[in-house]
Amino acid sequence: MSEPRDTPPDRGRTVHGEAANAGHRVLAPDDAEVEAYLEQALHAPPPQRIETEAPEHPDTVAVLDFGSQFAQLIARRVRELNVYSELLPHDTTMAELERRNVKAVILSGGPSSVYDTDAPRADPALWSGRIPVLGICYGLQLMALDLGGEVVPSTKREYGPATVRLSDADGLFDGIEGEQPVWMSHGDSILRPPEGFRATAETDSTPFAGLADPGRNLYGIQFHPEVVHTPIGRDVLRNFVVGIAGARTNWTASSLVETTVADVRERVGGGHVICALSGGVDSAVAATLVHRAIGDQLTCIYVDHGLMRKRESELLRVTFERDLGMNLVMVDARERFLRRLAGVEDPEEKRRIIGDEFIRVFEEEAAKLGQIDFLVQGTLYPDVIESTTAETKTAQKIKTHHNVGGLPADLRFQLIEPLRYLFKDEVRRVGTELDLPEAMVQRQPFPGPGLAIRIIGEVTGERLDTLREADWIVIDEIKGAGLYRSLWQSFAILTPVRSVGVMGDGRTYANVVAIRAVTSDDGMTADWARLPYEVLAKISSRIVNEVPGVNRVVYDISSKPPATIEWE
Ligand code: XMP
Repeated sequence: MSEPRDTPPDRGRTVHGEAANAGHRVLAPDDAEVEAYLEQALHAPPPQRIETEAPEHPDTVAVLDFGSQFAQLIARRVRELNVYSELLPHDTTMAELERRNVKAVILSGGPSSVYDTDAPRADPALWSGRIPVLGICYGLQLMALDLGGEVVPSTKREYGPATVRLSDADGLFDGIEGEQPVWMSHGDSILRPPEGFRATAETDSTPFAGLADPGRNLYGIQFHPEVVHTPIGRDVLRNFVVGIAGARTNWTASSLVETTVADVRERVGGGHVICALSGGVDSAVAATLVHRAIGDQLTCIYVDHGLMRKRESELLRVTFERDLGMNLVMVDARERFLRRLAGVEDPEEKRRIIGDEFIRVFEEEAAKLGQIDFLVQGTLYPDVIESTTAETKTAQKIKTHHNVGGLPADLRFQLIEPLRYLFKDEVRRVGTELDLPEAMVQRQPFPGPGLAIRIIGEVTGERLDTLREADWIVIDEIKGAGLYRSLWQSFAILTPVRSVGVMGDGRTYANVVAIRAVTSDDGMTADWARLPYEVLAKISSRIVNEVPGVNRVVYDISSKPPATIEWE
C-alpha cells in the first residue's frame, strides 16, 4: 500500500477533476461507483493497466467500427455464436489484424455517405482476400466503391423493414431460402457492382441488397443481420463466421473461467490483492474468479453503509464468507453514514456525503491490511471500448460517460480486470458457471448511493426501514410474476407526501410510496413498464397492509427522457 502523504489528494476527485461521486448518472452502474471510492481511498499512484490480449488468443472476429450504433451489437451477436469478437477502429490496418490473428472481418454500417469528404475509410489491403470480409450497409458501399463499382449518393436515407429475395443458396445464405424479412438501411445505392462480384440478394428498391465475390473472400449485405428485426441474421452471421471463415466456436463461459484463472494466477504470483464488493454482479464475479485463482491472497472489503436493500448484506456474507470461504472484511458503517446524512435533503449533497464517507471507511480498512499489490476491478468491455475507439474515432457519442473512467491520478498498485473482455450478459453467464446465486447474478442495476436517493428528503433509520420493506414487496411480487429479468429496474420510492386514508374505523395520515418499473437497454433511455394491473394491485395492497406508515401507493408512468429513472 502507498505511504501516507503529507497533502491528501483532493478528496473524491477523479483525474478528470470531476467529483468521484458527482451527480453523474452511471451506465449500468452496479459496481463502478464503489470501485471509484476505493481507488480514491488508497491514494494510489498511476494505474499500471497492462494491455493484455484476450486470454489464450481465441479465434477472433474483428468488427471495424464505422460509427453505427449497432457496431457493439454485431460483436455481441458473433459472441453469441461462441466466437470471440471485438470492436476495432475503422482504420485498423491489415497488418494489425493479421498480428491479432483475426479470422474474419465485419465492416459495420455507419451514418456517413461514402461521398462525404471526411467519410471513414478502410485499409485497402482488406480487399486482398487474405481474410474474409463482410461489409454491412455502409461497409458494403465502401467495399463496392473502393473496388471500382458505381455507388450513387442519395439525400434520403431509407430505414425500416423490407423483404429480400435470396438468389444464392451457398456461402452467406447457406440453408436460408427464398424471401425473408430483414431490417434495411439505405443511404447511398449501388448502381453497378465491382468486377468479379455477383448479386446474391435483391429487394424491391435495389437489385444489389447482397453481393459476393467468393474468390476474393468478399461479401456484403445492405441489411442489418445484427438486429432482432432480421430473423435470419443469426444464420447469416454464422454462415460467414463459421462456414466461410472457419472460426472455432470455443468462446464459452467455462473456457473463459479456466483461462482467466490461469492468467490471474500467473500475473499475481505471491502478491496481495484487494477487491471492493458492492453487492453488484460485476464485482461479485470478478472477486470469485480471482479467488479461484489465488485463494487467500485476496481480501474483499464490503462497506455496509446501511443503504442497501433488504437481505443484500446477508446474501453477500453467506455467499462469499460461508460458501466460498473468502477473506471478507465486512465493515458495519451504518451508524456513521446515518449520522452524516442527518438533516440533508439535497440529492447531490447526499451523493457527495456518501462518496466521501465511503472513502474514509476504506482508508481506515485498507490501512489495516498492510502491503497491497493489486486491485481487482470489474471493468467491462463496453467501458474499455468506449474509452478508446468511440471517443476518438467515428462513433457518434450518444452516451455521456460515467464517473469511473476517472481513475485517481496516482494509483500505485496494478489493476486486475478479469472482466475487461466481457459484455454484461457474458459476465452473468460466467457468474452462473461459477455457481454464484441467481439473486446475485441476475440482479438489476442498483445505484451506488443506494436507497438514500430513493427517499425523498432526509434519510433516517426509520425511513430506510419503511422503504426497505416496501421495496422488498415490489421485488418479491415482480419476481413472483416472472417479470424481474425483463425489467431494467423495478423499485419503490418513499415520498415525503402524506395523505389521508382510512383503515378499519380509523383515519390515517401517512406516506405515499411510488413504484417505478422501467424497461431499457442501457439506462440512457427508458420506458415505464406496462405492468399487469393484477401485479400492481397485489403490490399496492401488500404495501399498504404490511408496511407501517404507508397508506397510499402510486405508479410512476414517466419515461426517460424527460424523467430520469431515479427520483433524485
Ligand atoms: P437516471 O436516474 O439518471 O439513472 O435515469 C440511470 C441509471 O444510473 C443509476 N444511477 C446511479 N448510479 N450512482 C450510481 O452508481 C448514482 O448516483 C446514480 N444515479 C443514478 C440508476 O439507478 C440507473 O440505472
